[in-house]
Amino acid sequence: TKDWNGIEQIVLRNPLGASAKVSLLGGQVTSWRNERGEELLFMSSKGILKSPKAMRGGIPICFPQFSNCDSLEQHGFARNKIWVVDDDAPPLLSNDSQWKSFVDLLLKPSEEDLKFWPHSFEFRLRVSLGMDGNLTLISRVRNVNGKPFSFSFAYHSYLSVSDISEVRIEGLETMDYFDNLCKRERFTEQGDAITFESEIDRVYLSSPSCIAVLDHERKRTYVLKKEGLPDVVVWNPWEKKSKAMSDFGDDEYKQMLCVDGAAIEKPITLKPGEEWTGRLEIAVVPSSFCSEG
Ligand code: BG6
Repeated sequence: TKDWNGIEQIVLRNPLGASAKVSLLGGQVTSWRNERGEELLFMSSKGILKSPKAMRGGIPICFPQFSNCDSLEQHGFARNKIWVVDDDAPPLLSNDSQWKSFVDLLLKPSEEDLKFWPHSFEFRLRVSLGMDGNLTLISRVRNVNGKPFSFSFAYHSYLSVSDISEVRIEGLETMDYFDNLCKRERFTEQGDAITFESEIDRVYLSSPSCIAVLDHERKRTYVLKKEGLPDVVVWNPWEKKSKAMSDFGDDEYKQMLCVDGAAIEKPITLKPGEEWTGRLEIAVVPSSFCSEG
């Protein structure tokens, strides 16, 4: 199938009717539906028909930089590149033999990319959908360069919510966060779950490996489990910033919340030949249970 820019998308399905779509543009997950066909990720209805540009929604991959504090383009170039399907991906070291529908994608830098970021890498992304309907993204970045390099990273996950003012996040209480990413101003969250009544753009640092996003109205909880991703970005543009974004509806901020598994505060450094793995699994459950395994 093709996305609205005419770029190929791979469709994953499980036997119970859940599905996910992954675009070759950016390796971006553009849709994830449960067994009842309900969309679980937010996607803006005001997408820009100008390729190649990451769509506003789903799960864009931010690499080799999150934000735009350095000279690279905002959130790095990976989300705006065409990836290829990798039929020969090296096996993953995993002890779980459960049924999964998956696709392996690969991104290598072009000559042009090397002018801006002179580091040769191989980025392998596996997106898989389990029998339980859970969505798992596994990124493997390998240094195929003669010298070490560093990067930051985020799965910029746009979760679909009924009404942002009814949503809360559990698992980030008492965590430290950066409020202004480039200035790196550090604050500490107080004891309560996080709720929303204005713009939020934070990076929670060294967070627990399991975070729950509770949507009270829909009685739906997203449980995010992450490995290799110590930080969590929480972003909602709210009213004013929504109006300023050309690919986002003025009121759409009410139906989305970005909660990203990320590695930002301490960039990942890879020596020649080394590989890093960052894994995010998202489950949707009727209530909150990070505590259960
Ligand atoms: C967030 C950043 O995660 O992504 C915000 O913290 C940014 O500052 C937002 O506005 C969206 O970025 P973009 O490049 O997709 O418009």
